[in-house]
Amino acid sequence: MEIRPQIVPQIEIAADWLVVPIVEPVEITGKLATLDTALAGALTRLKELGDLTGKFASTIALRGVTGLAASRVLLVGLGKPQELTAGRLDRALNTAARSISDKKDVRIAVAVPEATIGAISPAQFSSAAAVAALTGSVGQDLFKAERSRFPFSEVTLACSEATSDGLASAIERGQILGEAVNLARDLVNRPPQEITPVGFAQRAAAVAAQYGLSCDIFDEERLETERMKSLLAVAQGSSEPPRMVIVEHRGGAPDGPRLALVGKGVTFDSGGLSLKPTDGMLTMKCDMAGAATVLGAMTAIARLKLPVNVVGYMGLVENMPGGAAFKLGDILTARNGVTIEVLNTDAEGRLVLADVLSYAVDSGVDRIIDLATLTGACVVALGEDVAGAFANDQSWADAVLSSAKNCGEDLWQLPMWDLYDDLIKGDVGDIKNTGGRWGGAISAAKFLQRFVGGKPWVHLDIAGPAFASSNKPHREGGGTGCFVRTLVEVARTFGQ
Ligand code: BES
Ligand code: MN
Ligand code: ZN
Repeated sequence: MEIRPQIVPQIEIAADWLVVPIVEPVEITGKLATLDTALAGALTRLKELGDLTGKFASTIALRGVTGLAASRVLLVGLGKPQELTAGRLDRALNTAARSISDKKDVRIAVAVPEATIGAISPAQFSSAAAVAALTGSVGQDLFKAERSRFPFSEVTLACSEATSDGLASAIERGQILGEAVNLARDLVNRPPQEITPVGFAQRAAAVAAQYGLSCDIFDEERLETERMKSLLAVAQGSSEPPRMVIVEHRGGAPDGPRLALVGKGVTFDSGGLSLKPTDGMLTMKCDMAGAATVLGAMTAIARLKLPVNVVGYMGLVENMPGGAAFKLGDILTARNGVTIEVLNTDAEGRLVLADVLSYAVDSGVDRIIDLATLTGACVVALGEDVAGAFANDQSWADAVLSSAKNCGEDLWQLPMWDLYDDLIKGDVGDIKNTGGRWGGAISAAKFLQRFVGGKPWVHLDIAGPAFASSNKPHREGGGTGCFVRTLVEVARTFGQ
Protein backbone atom coordinates (compact mmCIF):
# COMPACT_ATOMS: atom_id res chain seq x y z
CA MET A 1 0.00 0.00 0.00
CA GLU A 2 1.51 3.29 -1.07
CA ILE A 3 0.97 6.07 1.47
CA ARG A 4 2.30 9.53 0.71
CA PRO A 5 1.74 13.19 1.50
CA GLN A 6 0.79 15.66 -1.20
CA ILE A 7 0.41 19.42 -1.06
CA VAL A 8 -2.89 19.81 -2.87
CA PRO A 9 -6.26 21.52 -2.33
CA GLN A 10 -8.80 18.96 -1.06
CA ILE A 11 -11.22 19.55 -3.90
CA GLU A 12 -8.58 18.79 -6.51
CA ILE A 13 -7.52 15.30 -5.37
CA ALA A 14 -8.63 12.52 -7.65
CA ALA A 15 -9.68 9.63 -5.39
CA ASP A 16 -12.49 7.17 -4.81
CA TRP A 17 -12.95 8.60 -1.34
CA LEU A 18 -11.96 11.88 0.22
CA VAL A 19 -11.90 11.40 4.00
CA VAL A 20 -12.47 14.65 5.90
CA PRO A 21 -12.13 14.82 9.70
CA ILE A 22 -14.56 17.12 11.49
CA VAL A 23 -14.84 18.11 15.14
CA GLU A 24 -17.72 18.80 17.48
CA PRO A 25 -19.30 21.31 17.19
CA VAL A 26 -18.87 21.59 13.41
CA GLU A 27 -18.03 25.01 12.07
CA ILE A 28 -18.18 25.40 8.33
CA THR A 29 -15.25 27.75 7.87
CA GLY A 30 -11.84 27.64 6.15
CA LYS A 31 -11.23 24.44 4.16
CA LEU A 32 -14.57 22.99 5.17
CA ALA A 33 -16.29 26.07 3.70
CA THR A 34 -14.38 25.60 0.43
CA LEU A 35 -15.51 21.98 0.38
CA ASP A 36 -19.08 23.02 1.15
CA THR A 37 -19.06 25.47 -1.76
CA ALA A 38 -17.72 22.81 -4.12
CA LEU A 39 -20.48 20.49 -2.87
CA ALA A 40 -23.09 23.18 -3.59
CA GLY A 41 -23.87 23.76 0.07
CA ALA A 42 -24.44 20.10 0.97
CA LEU A 43 -22.55 20.44 4.27
CA THR A 44 -24.56 23.50 5.31
CA ARG A 45 -27.78 21.61 4.58
CA LEU A 46 -26.58 18.59 6.56
CA LYS A 47 -25.77 20.86 9.46
CA GLU A 48 -29.22 22.47 9.31
CA LEU A 49 -30.77 19.01 9.36
CA GLY A 50 -28.78 18.23 12.50
CA ASP A 51 -26.92 15.40 10.73
CA LEU A 52 -23.49 16.99 10.67
CA THR A 53 -22.50 16.78 14.32
CA GLY A 54 -18.82 15.83 14.37
CA LYS A 55 -19.72 13.37 17.12
CA PHE A 56 -16.91 11.01 18.07
CA ALA A 57 -16.45 8.12 15.60
CA SER A 58 -19.56 9.07 13.60
CA THR A 59 -19.32 8.90 9.81
CA ILE A 60 -21.34 10.42 6.98
CA ALA A 61 -20.82 9.07 3.47
CA LEU A 62 -21.66 11.23 0.45
CA ARG A 63 -21.51 9.08 -2.69
CA GLY A 64 -21.40 10.14 -6.32
CA VAL A 65 -20.69 13.77 -5.56
CA THR A 66 -19.96 16.33 -8.27
CA GLY A 67 -17.90 19.48 -7.98
CA LEU A 68 -14.81 17.66 -6.66
CA ALA A 69 -12.14 15.54 -8.26
CA ALA A 70 -13.02 12.79 -5.74
CA SER A 71 -16.18 10.79 -6.37
CA ARG A 72 -17.15 10.24 -2.74
CA VAL A 73 -16.66 12.04 0.56
CA LEU A 74 -16.52 10.49 4.02
CA LEU A 75 -16.91 12.89 6.92
CA VAL A 76 -15.53 11.43 10.11
CA GLY A 77 -16.24 12.87 13.54
CA LEU A 78 -13.36 13.23 15.97
CA GLY A 79 -15.59 14.48 18.79
CA LYS A 80 -14.72 17.42 21.02
CA PRO A 81 -11.16 18.67 20.42
CA GLN A 82 -10.33 18.82 24.13
CA GLU A 83 -11.31 15.14 24.50
CA LEU A 84 -9.22 13.88 21.59
CA THR A 85 -6.54 11.37 22.58
CA ALA A 86 -4.36 8.96 20.59
CA GLY A 87 -6.77 6.17 21.44
CA ARG A 88 -9.88 8.06 20.37
CA LEU A 89 -8.24 9.24 17.15
CA ASP A 90 -7.27 5.66 16.38
CA ARG A 91 -10.82 4.49 16.93
CA ALA A 92 -12.37 7.20 14.76
CA LEU A 93 -9.92 6.71 11.90
CA ASN A 94 -10.24 2.93 11.96
CA THR A 95 -14.03 3.26 11.87
CA ALA A 96 -13.62 5.47 8.81
CA ALA A 97 -11.14 3.14 7.08
CA ARG A 98 -13.26 0.08 7.79
CA SER A 99 -16.38 1.69 6.36
CA ILE A 100 -14.76 2.30 2.94
CA SER A 101 -12.57 -0.77 2.48
CA ASP A 102 -15.25 -3.15 1.21
CA LYS A 103 -14.25 -2.82 -2.46
CA LYS A 104 -11.12 -3.75 -4.40
CA ASP A 105 -8.53 -1.19 -5.55
CA VAL A 106 -9.87 1.82 -3.69
CA ARG A 107 -7.81 5.00 -3.75
CA ILE A 108 -8.35 7.20 -0.73
CA ALA A 109 -7.26 10.69 0.20
CA VAL A 110 -7.31 11.94 3.77
CA ALA A 111 -7.50 15.65 4.51
CA VAL A 112 -4.84 16.52 7.11
CA PRO A 113 -6.13 19.09 9.64
CA GLU A 114 -4.69 22.58 9.30
CA ALA A 115 -3.86 22.92 12.97
CA THR A 116 -3.43 20.95 16.16
CA ILE A 117 -6.71 19.42 17.40
CA GLY A 118 -6.64 19.13 21.19
CA ALA A 119 -3.38 17.27 21.86
CA ILE A 120 -3.01 15.93 18.31
CA SER A 121 -0.67 17.68 15.86
CA PRO A 122 -1.06 17.40 12.06
CA ALA A 123 1.96 15.06 12.03
CA GLN A 124 0.46 12.80 14.72
CA PHE A 125 -2.81 12.80 12.82
CA SER A 126 -1.03 11.77 9.63
CA SER A 127 0.84 8.97 11.36
CA ALA A 128 -2.40 7.66 12.89
CA ALA A 129 -4.15 7.92 9.52
CA ALA A 130 -1.42 5.80 7.91
CA VAL A 131 -1.81 3.17 10.64
CA ALA A 132 -5.60 3.16 10.29
CA ALA A 133 -5.41 2.92 6.48
CA LEU A 134 -3.34 -0.25 6.91
CA THR A 135 -5.13 -1.87 9.82
CA GLY A 136 -8.66 -0.84 8.84
CA SER A 137 -8.41 -2.28 5.34
CA VAL A 138 -7.08 -5.74 6.20
CA GLY A 139 -9.53 -8.36 7.40
CA GLN A 140 -9.40 -11.74 9.09
CA ASP A 141 -11.14 -13.43 6.14
CA LEU A 142 -7.86 -14.87 4.84
CA PHE A 143 -9.39 -17.99 3.36
CA LYS A 144 -12.71 -16.73 1.99
CA ALA A 145 -13.39 -16.99 -1.74
CA GLU A 146 -15.16 -13.65 -1.50
CA ARG A 147 -13.32 -11.28 0.75
CA SER A 148 -15.21 -8.55 2.53
CA ARG A 149 -12.25 -6.24 3.03
CA PHE A 150 -9.54 -5.05 0.64
CA PRO A 151 -6.31 -3.09 1.20
CA PHE A 152 -6.47 0.39 -0.32
CA SER A 153 -4.48 0.70 -3.52
CA GLU A 154 -3.35 4.22 -2.76
CA VAL A 155 -3.47 6.55 0.24
CA THR A 156 -2.78 10.27 -0.15
CA LEU A 157 -2.53 12.59 2.82
CA ALA A 158 -3.63 15.94 1.49
CA CYS A 159 -1.94 18.82 3.25
CA SER A 160 -1.05 22.43 2.68
CA GLU A 161 2.36 24.11 2.56
CA ALA A 162 1.94 25.11 6.22
CA THR A 163 1.25 21.60 7.58
CA SER A 164 3.55 19.62 5.29
CA ASP A 165 6.55 19.98 7.59
CA GLY A 166 7.75 16.62 8.91
CA LEU A 167 4.74 14.86 7.45
CA ALA A 168 6.70 12.47 5.25
CA SER A 169 8.58 10.97 8.20
CA ALA A 170 5.43 10.82 10.35
CA ILE A 171 3.67 8.95 7.57
CA GLU A 172 6.55 6.56 7.08
CA ARG A 173 6.53 5.86 10.80
CA GLY A 174 2.77 5.21 10.62
CA GLN A 175 3.25 2.89 7.68
CA ILE A 176 5.92 0.88 9.51
CA LEU A 177 3.76 0.66 12.65
CA GLY A 178 0.65 -0.30 10.69
CA GLU A 179 2.51 -3.06 8.89
CA ALA A 180 3.94 -4.33 12.19
CA VAL A 181 0.46 -4.43 13.74
CA ASN A 182 -0.83 -6.28 10.67
CA LEU A 183 2.02 -8.80 10.91
CA ALA A 184 1.05 -9.60 14.50
CA ARG A 185 -2.64 -9.83 13.49
CA ASP A 186 -1.84 -12.09 10.56
CA LEU A 187 0.17 -14.50 12.71
CA VAL A 188 -2.70 -14.72 15.21
CA ASN A 189 -5.36 -15.05 12.51
CA ARG A 190 -3.65 -17.88 10.64
CA PRO A 191 -4.83 -21.34 11.66
CA PRO A 192 -2.94 -23.33 14.28
CA GLN A 193 -2.15 -26.07 11.76
CA GLU A 194 -0.03 -23.52 9.89
CA ILE A 195 1.35 -21.50 12.81
CA THR A 196 2.92 -24.37 14.70
CA PRO A 197 6.12 -23.65 16.64
CA VAL A 198 8.11 -24.55 13.51
CA GLY A 199 5.73 -22.59 11.25
CA PHE A 200 6.02 -19.51 13.47
CA ALA A 201 9.82 -19.83 13.57
CA GLN A 202 9.99 -20.01 9.77
CA ARG A 203 7.91 -16.88 9.47
CA ALA A 204 10.12 -15.16 12.07
CA ALA A 205 13.28 -16.13 10.18
CA ALA A 206 11.82 -14.72 6.96
CA VAL A 207 10.81 -11.33 8.40
CA ALA A 208 14.09 -11.09 10.34
CA ALA A 209 16.03 -11.55 7.09
CA GLN A 210 13.79 -9.04 5.33
CA TYR A 211 14.32 -6.28 7.90
CA GLY A 212 17.91 -6.90 9.00
CA LEU A 213 17.34 -8.49 12.41
CA SER A 214 19.66 -11.26 13.52
CA CYS A 215 17.72 -14.45 14.17
CA ASP A 216 18.57 -17.51 16.21
CA ILE A 217 16.27 -20.54 16.42
CA PHE A 218 16.68 -23.14 19.19
CA ASP A 219 15.37 -26.64 18.40
CA GLU A 220 14.47 -29.30 21.01
CA GLU A 221 18.05 -30.45 21.29
CA ARG A 222 19.33 -26.96 22.01
CA LEU A 223 16.47 -26.35 24.45
CA GLU A 224 17.57 -29.53 26.29
CA THR A 225 21.18 -28.30 26.38
CA GLU A 226 19.93 -25.02 27.83
CA ARG A 227 18.05 -26.97 30.56
CA MET A 228 14.70 -25.46 29.55
CA LYS A 229 12.82 -28.37 31.11
CA SER A 230 9.77 -26.38 32.08
CA LEU A 231 9.13 -25.23 28.49
CA LEU A 232 9.92 -28.72 27.17
CA ALA A 233 7.41 -30.32 29.54
CA VAL A 234 4.58 -28.34 27.97
CA ALA A 235 5.65 -29.48 24.49
CA GLN A 236 5.72 -33.17 25.50
CA GLY A 237 2.09 -33.93 24.72
CA SER A 238 2.28 -32.62 21.16
CA SER A 239 3.73 -34.08 17.99
CA GLU A 240 4.80 -30.57 17.03
CA PRO A 241 8.34 -29.90 18.32
CA PRO A 242 8.95 -26.69 20.33
CA ARG A 243 11.20 -23.80 19.33
CA MET A 244 12.63 -20.66 20.88
CA VAL A 245 13.25 -17.76 18.51
CA ILE A 246 15.61 -14.92 19.38
CA VAL A 247 15.73 -11.86 17.14
CA GLU A 248 18.02 -8.96 17.87
CA HIS A 249 18.35 -5.32 16.84
CA ARG A 250 21.65 -3.68 17.71
CA GLY A 251 21.04 0.00 17.12
CA GLY A 252 22.66 1.34 20.30
CA ALA A 253 26.21 1.45 21.60
CA PRO A 254 27.80 -2.03 21.65
CA ASP A 255 28.09 -1.84 25.44
CA GLY A 256 24.83 0.10 25.85
CA PRO A 257 21.81 -1.23 27.79
CA ARG A 258 19.71 -4.00 26.28
CA LEU A 259 15.93 -4.24 26.37
CA ALA A 260 14.35 -7.70 26.28
CA LEU A 261 10.88 -8.30 24.84
CA VAL A 262 9.60 -11.76 25.74
CA GLY A 263 6.49 -13.34 24.22
CA LYS A 264 4.34 -16.35 25.07
CA GLY A 265 3.99 -18.38 21.90
CA VAL A 266 1.64 -21.26 22.64
CA THR A 267 0.57 -21.91 19.06
CA PHE A 268 -2.47 -23.84 20.27
CA ASP A 269 -3.61 -24.28 23.85
CA SER A 270 -5.88 -27.29 24.23
CA GLY A 271 -5.22 -27.18 27.97
CA GLY A 272 -3.24 -30.43 27.78
CA LEU A 273 -4.52 -33.20 30.07
CA SER A 274 -6.45 -30.50 31.96
CA LEU A 275 -8.35 -30.29 28.68
CA LYS A 276 -10.37 -27.17 27.96
CA PRO A 277 -14.05 -27.51 27.02
CA THR A 278 -14.84 -26.60 23.38
CA ASP A 279 -15.95 -23.05 24.19
CA GLY A 280 -12.72 -22.24 25.98
CA MET A 281 -10.56 -23.92 23.33
CA LEU A 282 -12.27 -22.29 20.37
CA THR A 283 -10.03 -19.23 20.14
CA MET A 284 -6.84 -20.80 21.45
CA LYS A 285 -4.95 -20.27 18.19
CA CYS A 286 -4.56 -16.78 19.71
CA ASP A 287 -2.34 -18.08 22.52
CA MET A 288 0.80 -17.09 20.60
CA ALA A 289 -0.27 -13.43 20.47
CA GLY A 290 2.48 -12.40 22.91
CA ALA A 291 5.14 -13.83 20.60
CA ALA A 292 3.44 -12.29 17.55
CA THR A 293 3.42 -8.89 19.27
CA VAL A 294 7.13 -9.18 20.03
CA LEU A 295 7.94 -10.14 16.43
CA GLY A 296 5.79 -7.33 15.02
CA ALA A 297 7.40 -4.77 17.31
CA MET A 298 10.91 -6.01 16.49
CA THR A 299 10.32 -5.50 12.75
CA ALA A 300 9.22 -1.92 13.38
CA ILE A 301 12.15 -1.23 15.73
CA ALA A 302 14.56 -2.45 13.03
CA ARG A 303 12.85 -0.57 10.20
CA LEU A 304 12.79 2.66 12.21
CA LYS A 305 16.50 2.12 12.96
CA LEU A 306 15.95 3.07 16.60
CA PRO A 307 19.28 3.84 18.30
CA VAL A 308 18.80 1.18 20.99
CA ASN A 309 19.64 -2.47 21.63
CA VAL A 310 16.56 -4.70 21.75
CA VAL A 311 16.27 -8.49 21.85
CA GLY A 312 13.03 -10.36 21.20
CA TYR A 313 12.53 -13.81 22.71
CA MET A 314 9.64 -16.03 21.63
CA GLY A 315 8.87 -19.29 23.44
CA LEU A 316 6.97 -21.52 21.00
CA VAL A 317 5.14 -24.70 21.97
CA GLU A 318 1.86 -26.47 21.32
CA ASN A 319 -0.03 -27.61 24.43
CA MET A 320 -1.68 -30.96 23.69
CA PRO A 321 -2.86 -34.00 25.68
CA GLY A 322 -0.89 -36.68 23.78
CA GLY A 323 0.30 -39.93 25.39
CA ALA A 324 3.60 -38.38 26.38
CA ALA A 325 1.95 -35.31 27.86
CA PHE A 326 3.19 -33.89 31.16
CA LYS A 327 0.96 -34.77 34.06
CA LEU A 328 -0.65 -33.31 37.14
CA GLY A 329 1.75 -33.96 40.00
CA ASP A 330 4.83 -33.84 37.78
CA ILE A 331 7.76 -31.91 39.23
CA LEU A 332 9.61 -29.78 36.70
CA THR A 333 13.05 -28.31 37.27
CA ALA A 334 13.21 -25.01 35.42
CA ARG A 335 16.38 -23.62 33.86
CA ASN A 336 17.16 -21.56 36.97
CA GLY A 337 16.81 -24.60 39.26
CA VAL A 338 13.40 -23.69 40.72
CA THR A 339 11.22 -26.80 41.09
CA ILE A 340 7.62 -26.52 39.95
CA GLU A 341 4.67 -28.71 40.92
CA VAL A 342 2.22 -29.13 38.09
CA LEU A 343 -1.31 -28.75 39.43
CA ASN A 344 -2.95 -27.93 36.11
CA THR A 345 -1.52 -28.45 32.63
CA ASP A 346 -3.68 -25.57 31.36
CA ALA A 347 -1.50 -23.13 33.33
CA GLU A 348 1.17 -23.73 30.67
CA GLY A 349 2.04 -20.18 29.61
CA ARG A 350 3.93 -19.45 32.82
CA LEU A 351 5.89 -22.70 32.41
CA VAL A 352 7.01 -21.64 28.95
CA LEU A 353 7.83 -18.07 30.00
CA ALA A 354 9.73 -19.25 33.11
CA ASP A 355 12.56 -20.70 31.04
CA VAL A 356 12.52 -18.02 28.37
CA LEU A 357 12.71 -15.27 31.01
CA SER A 358 15.61 -16.93 32.80
CA TYR A 359 17.39 -17.45 29.49
CA ALA A 360 17.02 -13.73 28.76
CA VAL A 361 18.30 -12.84 32.24
CA ASP A 362 21.32 -15.12 31.77
CA SER A 363 22.04 -13.42 28.44
CA GLY A 364 22.61 -10.21 30.40
CA VAL A 365 19.65 -8.09 29.34
CA ASP A 366 19.02 -5.01 31.48
CA ARG A 367 15.26 -4.55 31.38
CA ILE A 368 12.42 -6.90 30.51
CA ILE A 369 8.86 -6.68 29.24
CA ASP A 370 6.93 -9.88 28.69
CA LEU A 371 3.60 -10.23 26.92
CA ALA A 372 1.29 -13.18 27.30
CA THR A 373 -2.30 -14.26 26.84
CA LEU A 374 -1.79 -15.64 30.30
CA THR A 375 -4.99 -15.80 32.34
CA GLY A 376 -8.74 -15.78 31.99
CA ALA A 377 -8.66 -14.18 35.44
CA CYS A 378 -7.18 -11.00 33.96
CA VAL A 379 -10.10 -10.80 31.53
CA VAL A 380 -12.51 -11.22 34.46
CA ALA A 381 -10.73 -8.41 36.32
CA LEU A 382 -10.33 -5.84 33.54
CA GLY A 383 -12.66 -6.85 30.71
CA GLU A 384 -11.85 -7.79 27.15
CA ASP A 385 -10.33 -4.51 25.99
CA VAL A 386 -7.80 -3.77 28.72
CA ALA A 387 -4.49 -5.48 29.48
CA GLY A 388 -3.10 -6.00 32.97
CA ALA A 389 0.35 -4.72 33.94
CA PHE A 390 2.43 -6.26 36.73
CA ALA A 391 5.90 -5.17 37.75
CA ASN A 392 8.74 -5.55 40.22
CA ASP A 393 10.02 -2.00 39.61
CA GLN A 394 7.70 0.99 39.69
CA SER A 395 9.77 3.36 37.57
CA TRP A 396 9.99 0.78 34.81
CA ALA A 397 6.24 0.17 35.12
CA ASP A 398 5.65 3.92 34.84
CA ALA A 399 7.72 4.06 31.65
CA VAL A 400 5.68 1.27 30.07
CA LEU A 401 2.36 2.71 31.26
CA SER A 402 3.17 6.13 29.87
CA SER A 403 4.24 4.66 26.52
CA ALA A 404 0.94 2.76 26.35
CA LYS A 405 -0.93 5.96 27.12
CA ASN A 406 0.89 7.85 24.35
CA CYS A 407 -0.13 5.11 21.92
CA GLY A 408 -3.74 5.04 23.10
CA GLU A 409 -3.51 1.42 24.28
CA ASP A 410 -5.34 0.61 27.52
CA LEU A 411 -3.26 -0.84 30.30
CA TRP A 412 -4.01 -1.03 34.03
CA GLN A 413 -1.57 -1.93 36.75
CA LEU A 414 -2.45 -4.53 39.38
CA PRO A 415 -0.67 -4.95 42.73
CA MET A 416 2.21 -7.34 43.36
CA TRP A 417 2.21 -7.24 47.17
CA ASP A 418 4.15 -9.88 49.09
CA LEU A 419 0.95 -11.42 50.42
CA TYR A 420 0.29 -12.90 46.99
CA ASP A 421 3.50 -14.95 47.16
CA ASP A 422 1.78 -17.36 49.52
CA LEU A 423 -0.67 -18.37 46.79
CA ILE A 424 1.95 -20.25 44.79
CA LYS A 425 3.98 -21.86 47.57
CA GLY A 426 4.45 -25.54 46.75
CA ASP A 427 4.01 -28.59 49.00
CA VAL A 428 6.46 -30.89 47.22
CA GLY A 429 8.36 -28.42 45.01
CA ASP A 430 9.34 -24.76 45.44
CA ILE A 431 6.27 -23.36 43.72
CA LYS A 432 3.09 -24.65 42.10
CA ASN A 433 1.83 -23.60 38.71
CA THR A 434 -1.59 -22.39 39.83
CA GLY A 435 -2.49 -20.09 42.67
CA GLY A 436 -6.12 -21.08 42.99
CA ARG A 437 -9.27 -19.32 41.93
CA TRP A 438 -8.88 -15.87 43.49
CA GLY A 439 -6.38 -13.31 42.23
CA GLY A 440 -5.40 -15.63 39.38
CA ALA A 441 -3.84 -12.96 37.18
CA ILE A 442 -1.64 -11.80 40.05
CA SER A 443 -0.54 -15.26 41.18
CA ALA A 444 0.45 -15.98 37.56
CA ALA A 445 2.55 -12.80 37.55
CA LYS A 446 4.04 -13.77 40.91
CA PHE A 447 5.06 -17.09 39.37
CA LEU A 448 6.85 -15.29 36.51
CA GLN A 449 8.63 -13.01 38.96
CA ARG A 450 10.57 -16.03 40.25
CA PHE A 451 12.37 -16.18 36.89
CA VAL A 452 13.46 -12.60 36.23
CA GLY A 453 16.40 -12.60 38.63
CA GLY A 454 15.47 -9.23 40.13
CA LYS A 455 15.86 -7.37 36.82
CA PRO A 456 13.43 -4.49 36.23
CA TRP A 457 10.50 -6.31 34.64
CA VAL A 458 6.95 -5.60 33.50
CA HIS A 459 4.52 -8.36 32.61
CA LEU A 460 1.57 -7.56 30.34
CA ASP A 461 -1.34 -9.98 30.48
CA ILE A 462 -3.04 -9.46 27.11
CA ALA A 463 -5.53 -12.38 27.36
CA GLY A 464 -8.44 -9.92 26.91
CA PRO A 465 -7.40 -7.47 24.20
CA ALA A 466 -5.19 -9.73 22.01
CA PHE A 467 -8.11 -11.40 20.29
CA ALA A 468 -11.53 -9.95 19.47
CA SER A 469 -14.40 -12.37 19.15
CA SER A 470 -16.45 -10.30 16.67
CA ASN A 471 -16.20 -7.53 14.11
CA LYS A 472 -17.02 -4.05 15.37
CA PRO A 473 -17.27 -0.81 13.39
CA HIS A 474 -13.92 0.33 14.81
CA ARG A 475 -12.01 -2.94 14.54
CA GLU A 476 -11.92 -6.30 12.85
CA GLY A 477 -12.48 -9.43 14.90
CA GLY A 478 -9.58 -11.85 15.39
CA GLY A 479 -6.03 -10.81 16.25
CA THR A 480 -5.80 -7.14 17.18
CA GLY A 481 -2.04 -6.51 17.20
CA CYS A 482 -2.47 -4.67 20.48
CA PHE A 483 0.69 -3.38 22.22
CA VAL A 484 2.92 -3.59 19.16
CA ARG A 485 2.91 0.21 19.12
CA THR A 486 3.46 0.45 22.86
CA LEU A 487 6.56 -1.76 22.63
CA VAL A 488 7.97 0.35 19.81
CA GLU A 489 7.30 3.49 21.87
CA VAL A 490 9.06 1.96 24.89
CA ALA A 491 12.04 1.13 22.68
CA ARG A 492 12.04 4.66 21.27
CA THR A 493 12.28 6.18 24.73
CA PHE A 494 14.58 3.47 26.11
CA GLY A 495 17.89 4.87 27.33
CA GLN A 496 16.83 8.47 26.66
N1 BES B 1 -4.20 -19.28 27.36
C1 BES B 1 -4.93 -19.36 28.57
C2 BES B 1 -5.47 -18.01 29.05
C3 BES B 1 -6.49 -17.33 28.18
C4 BES B 1 -7.81 -17.33 28.52
C5 BES B 1 -6.09 -16.60 27.06
C6 BES B 1 -8.74 -16.66 27.73
C7 BES B 1 -7.01 -15.94 26.27
C8 BES B 1 -8.34 -15.96 26.61
C9 BES B 1 -4.03 -19.90 29.69
O1 BES B 1 -3.05 -20.79 29.28
C10 BES B 1 -4.92 -20.63 30.64
O2 BES B 1 -5.50 -21.60 30.23
N2 BES B 1 -4.98 -20.14 31.87
C11 BES B 1 -5.77 -20.75 32.87
C12 BES B 1 -4.97 -20.76 34.14
C13 BES B 1 -5.58 -21.58 35.25
C14 BES B 1 -5.61 -23.05 34.85
C15 BES B 1 -4.79 -21.36 36.50
C16 BES B 1 -7.04 -19.91 33.03
O3 BES B 1 -6.98 -18.70 32.90
O4 BES B 1 -8.09 -20.52 33.24
MN1 MN C 1 -3.76 -22.79 29.18
ZN1 ZN D 1 -2.41 -20.62 27.34
